[in-house]
Amino acid sequence: MTTAKLQIGPHPVNGQAVLAPMAGLTDQPFRSICRRFGAALAVTEMTTSDVTLWQTEKSRQRLMLTSENGLKIVQIAGADADKMRSAAQAAVQLGADVIDINMGCPAKKVCRKLAGSALLKDENLVRDILEAVANAVSVPVTLKMRTGWDPDHRNGVGIAKLAESTGIKSIAVHGRTRACMFRGNAEFETIRAIKSVVSIPVFANGDIGGPSDAARILNQTKADGVMIGRAALGQPWIFQQISSFLQTKVLPKPLSIAIRRDIILEHLDALYQLYGKDRGVRVARKHLSWYCRYLEKAGRFRDIFVRVETVSEQKRLTKEFFDRYDEQGRVAVQKRSREGVPDQCQRREPKKLRQENPLDLERTRRITRYRSGTDHLEA
Ligand SMILES: Cc1cc2nc3c(=O)[nH]c(=O)nc-3n(C[C@H](O)[C@H](O)[C@H](O)COP(=O)(O)O)c2cc1C
Repeated sequence: MTTAKLQIGPHPVNGQAVLAPMAGLTDQPFRSICRRFGAALAVTEMTTSDVTLWQTEKSRQRLMLTSENGLKIVQIAGADADKMRSAAQAAVQLGADVIDINMGCPAKKVCRKLAGSALLKDENLVRDILEAVANAVSVPVTLKMRTGWDPDHRNGVGIAKLAESTGIKSIAVHGRTRACMFRGNAEFETIRAIKSVVSIPVFANGDIGGPSDAARILNQTKADGVMIGRAALGQPWIFQQISSFLQTKVLPKPLSIAIRRDIILEHLDALYQLYGKDRGVRVARKHLSWYCRYLEKAGRFRDIFVRVETVSEQKRLTKEFFDRYDEQGRVAVQKRSREGVPDQCQRREPKKLRQENPLDLERTRRITRYRSGTDHLEA
């Protein structure tokens, strides 16, 4: 890793690839793993600026900063300058090193209340909020935004200048407008234009899928760094791969199966610990499904994993899945069913039965097969 020239206020930033905030996903366990693999920054999931709601279990977990292995960056969302000021102060009291303001979320639930990217419509309100928060806390304040309200109102450049003038210390820009939601491709011309008018660090965000994308977009936008969201799901090591590629221009080898196994098991344990057994099992299903996207023949394993209900079953399945690999990371055992037909060939139920009760039938059969030991995990 290079020694960074990047700074967020007084804080040096080591690396150019940072984790994007993603509600419901970038919780403390995931942030911690991404950081260990070189994510230079990792922001909490968005938290409401209504501090009266911070006592709920959900907010409490979102604001969990105690075992953070890096800068503690709390993202707040809201459309009321006074509430945003109080929320920023409360987050600092909880230990935040940096406050991130969310003007990037297109969710209807958030936009109806004129928070998130809906705010971009009202530049006076943007100014009020940025000034209120920046003046209320002694820690650096950063901004996450989109390129504008809709393709005809790409006011990202103006908002960025405004942000810099109110004391914001860095800006992350998702290359879509609010109206675009997640449709189409992210565009980087507006990000390049933003970078050319401000002197604070700018992070380019949107559809960056790996090391070559990161290099191309840094080159195109001249941004100081890239922010990675969805591409980090199931491969938190992407940050290490991006850093390595930016330094050497050589695409790194895929991470070994043994390391993936250890990371996944550790991730599962951290989820069970943070959320408790019931919710932990549910949250684990999402992450495991993403990990499986990058694992060979993991379809059957994933299908069963997302249906079992207990911590011990999820962990046992995971260990069994990885036991198939030999030391070179190759699938060592191609188990066959008792009839000698590869299991993946038997996955389809007769059409009629599937139509009758597709989900329940499939679920019951798989769990029964799994519990009776006649199922294998190599689909
Ligand atoms: C499930 C999900 C949740 C998100 N939650 C937040 C959030 O809480 N705060 C925020 O600023 N952006 C949020 N975003 C937007 C991402 O931070 C990022 O800008 C967007 O996904 C584009 O980057 P990507 O293409 O690398 O995923 C969310 C995106 C997704 C997919």
